[in-house]
Amino acid sequence: MRLFSYFWFLTSILSCLAAAPSRTIAERGSSPYVSSGKDGFSVNGSSLRFVGTNLYWLPTLETNDDIWNVLKNISDTGIKVIRIWAFNDVETVPASGTWFQLVQNGTATINEGPNGLQKLDTIVQMAEQQGLYVIMSLTNNWNPVPNTTTIGAPDVLASVALPRNTLSNDFGGMDLYVRQFGLQNHDDFYTSDNVLSAFQAYTKVIVLRYFNSPAVFSWELANDARCNSTMPTSATCTTQTVTKWHALMAAFIASLDPNHIVSAGTSGFQCTDCPKLYPVAPSASPTPSPAPGKKRRKVTPLTKEQIIRQRAESRRQNRAAAKRAGTLKEDGIMIRGRWVSTATRVVSSSTDSSTDGSSGVDSQDILNIPNIGFGSFQLYPDQETYGPYDPNLDPVSNKINSSLTWIQQSAQSAAAVGKPLVLNGFGLVTQTNLNNFVPFNMSYAPYATNTADVSASSDFANSAQQEQGYSSFLQMGDSAGLAGIMQYQWGSAGITQSSAAIQLDTTNSPSTGDSPNDGYSIAGNTAIQQILKQGAQAMAGGS
Ligand SMILES: *[C@@H]1O[C@H](CO)[C@@H](O)[C@H](O)[C@H]1NC(C)=O
Ligand SMILES: *[C@@H]1O[C@H](CO)[C@@H](O)[C@H](O)[C@H]1NC(C)=O
Ligand SMILES: *[C@@H]1O[C@H](CO)[C@@H](O)[C@H](O)[C@H]1NC(C)=O
Ligand SMILES: *[C@@H]1O[C@H](CO)[C@@H](O)[C@H](O)[C@H]1NC(C)=O
Ligand SMILES: *[C@@H]1O[C@H](CO)[C@@H](O)[C@H](O)[C@H]1NC(C)=O
Ligand SMILES: *[C@@H]1O[C@H](CO)[C@@H](O)[C@H](O)[C@H]1NC(C)=O
Ligand SMILES: *[C@@H]1O[C@H](CO)[C@@H](O)[C@H](O)[C@H]1NC(C)=O
Repeated sequence: MRLFSYFWFLTSILSCLAAAPSRTIAERGSSPYVSSGKDGFSVNGSSLRFVGTNLYWLPTLETNDDIWNVLKNISDTGIKVIRIWAFNDVETVPASGTWFQLVQNGTATINEGPNGLQKLDTIVQMAEQQGLYVIMSLTNNWNPVPNTTTIGAPDVLASVALPRNTLSNDFGGMDLYVRQFGLQNHDDFYTSDNVLSAFQAYTKVIVLRYFNSPAVFSWELANDARCNSTMPTSATCTTQTVTKWHALMAAFIASLDPNHIVSAGTSGFQCTDCPKLYPVAPSASPTPSPAPGKKRRKVTPLTKEQIIRQRAESRRQNRAAAKRAGTLKEDGIMIRGRWVSTATRVVSSSTDSSTDGSSGVDSQDILNIPNIGFGSFQLYPDQETYGPYDPNLDPVSNKINSSLTWIQQSAQSAAAVGKPLVLNGFGLVTQTNLNNFVPFNMSYAPYATNTADVSASSDFANSAQQEQGYSSFLQMGDSAGLAGIMQYQWGSAGITQSSAAIQLDTTNSPSTGDSPNDGYSIAGNTAIQQILKQGAQAMAGGS
C-alpha cells in the first residue's frame, strides 16, 4: 500500500512531462518488421510496448540446447526483446571459444565458422521461433586492456585473470580497432577513414546476413558511444564528432537494409546548451496523440534552467521531509573522514556530466538524425551520477531518486524530438553481487578483490531495495511513456555445457553453470523475475 502511494506520487509529478504514446495505434500496414513512428513501435499494424533484458554473453554459449533454454526462460517471463553483442573482436585468434572478427595490424578478417557468425545465425533463428526480437549492438565504447598501465589500476587487480568474454567490456570494440590500426586516441574510432572502412565492412556483413529476418528489432550502432573511454581522448572530440559518426553510420545501414530500424545505444547523456547539427524545429515540435482518457500535454525541450530548478525543488522537499522527521542533515563534504557543512553555499548553477556534454554525447541531437528510428538511454546509478548527492537521503535512495528524475528528463527530451524512447539497460548492483561488480571502464575491478577500499557495502542496494528500485524504474518508465524498458542483465544458473572452451565466469561466480556475472546478474532471483513479468504485462496491456 505504501509502495502504491509512492508510485502514485511519482506518476502525478509527471503531468508536466512527456505524453505517453497511444496504446491503440491505428493500422499502419502489415509489415512483419518492427517499425517505429511517433506513437511507438508496431509490427503487422499492432503496437509493441515491451520489457526486455540484456545478455551480451549469449553467443558465447557452446550448445544450441543452452541457447534455446535461456531464450525459452526469457520468453516465459513475458519479455519480448533481448539485447546482445553482435560483435566479438579479437586481436589474435583464441585457442577456443566464440569470436566473430580478427582485427590485426590494420587488417580485419571475419569468422563465418561454427564458433563465428554461425552462433549469431542460431540466436536469430531461435529468437524468431520463440517470438523474441533482438537488438543487435555492433560495437562497444569500452575495451580496456588488462595488465597494462592504461587501466591505471593498482597491482592487486592484475592478479585476477578472468576468462575472455566474462565481462561485457571484453568483446573488443572501438579501442581494439584503434590499437590495431596504429592510432592513439579513443575518438580516432569516429574519425579515421581506415577504421571507418573496417567497421562498415563488418557492419555490412552482419546487416546483409539478417536483413530479411523479422526477429531483428534494430541495428544498434554502438553500446555507450562517447568521446571518453580508457584510452586518451583528443582535444578535438566534441558532441558533434559523435553525432556525425552516428549520422554517417545510420545512413550507411539505411542504404543496405530497408527493413529494420537503426538506433544509437548511447547512455542518453544530454547537452542542453550544445550547438546542434540536427536542431529540433520549434514550429514542427510534435505533440504525440495522448492515450485514451489522458490529457494532451505540452512537449517542451529539456533546458539547463529546468534541470537546476528541479534539483533545487527536490532538495527543498527532501529537506522539508527530513526536518519534519527530525533527521535534517546539512549539505556538506567529507574532509579526511569528517563531515564539513557547506550549508551556506548557494545552490550550484551548473549541471554535471550527464547533462553538460562533457562526455561528448548529445542524445537529443543524435535522436533527431533522420535515419535514427528511436532513442535509447541507460541507467546505471552505481556508475554514473544523475544528480547531486542529497545528505538527507541514504545512498541507495539517492541513486534511485536521481534515476527516476533521469527517466523523466530522458522521456521529455525524446518527446520533443517526437520519436519513441527505450531504456536499453537498467541495473542496481546489490550487496550480494558486489564481489562480481566490474564497472564498464575496467577489466578487473578493485571491487572484486578489495571491496572495503572502494565503498561501504551499505552504499549498494540490498535485495529489498533492489526490488523497490526495479519496480519503481518500470513504473516510472511506463508512466513516462517509454516504448520499452530493458533490465541489465539476464542471468542463468542452468547452463549445462562443461567444456573448457566456454567462457563462463568460474572465477567469480559461485558455481559453474552460472552465466557470467558483472555485478548485475539476476540468475536464480525469482523476485526480480516476477517484477519483470508484472512490468511486461503493464507495458503490453496498458495500465
Ligand atoms: C506478421 O505477419 C506475418 C505474415 O502474416 C506473420 O508470418 C507473422 O508471424 C506476424 N508477426 C507477428 C508478430 O504477429
Ligand atoms: C603491420 O603492417 C605493416 C604494413 O602493412 C607491416 O610493415 C608490418 O610488418 C606489420 N607488422 C606486423 C607485426 O605484422
Ligand atoms: C594478468 O596478469 C596475471 C598476473 O601476472 C596473469 O596471471 C594473467 O594471465 C594476466 N592476464 C592477461 C589477460 O594477460
Ligand atoms: C576510465 O578509466 C581510466 C583509467 O582509470 C581513466 O583515465 C578514464 O578517465 C576513465 N574514463 C571515463 C570516461 O571515466
Ligand atoms: C573527457 O575527456 C576530456 C579530454 O581528456 C576531458 O577534458 C573531459 O573532462 C572528459 N570527460 C569526462 C566526463 O570524463
Ligand atoms: C526521492 O526519494 C524520497 C525518499 O525515497 C521520496 O519520498 C521522494 O518522492 C523522491 N523524489 C522524487 C522526485 O522521486
Ligand atoms: C530455466 O528455468 C528453470 C526454472 O527456473 C531452471 O531450472 C533452468 O535452469 C533454467 N534454464 C536456463 C538455461 O536458464
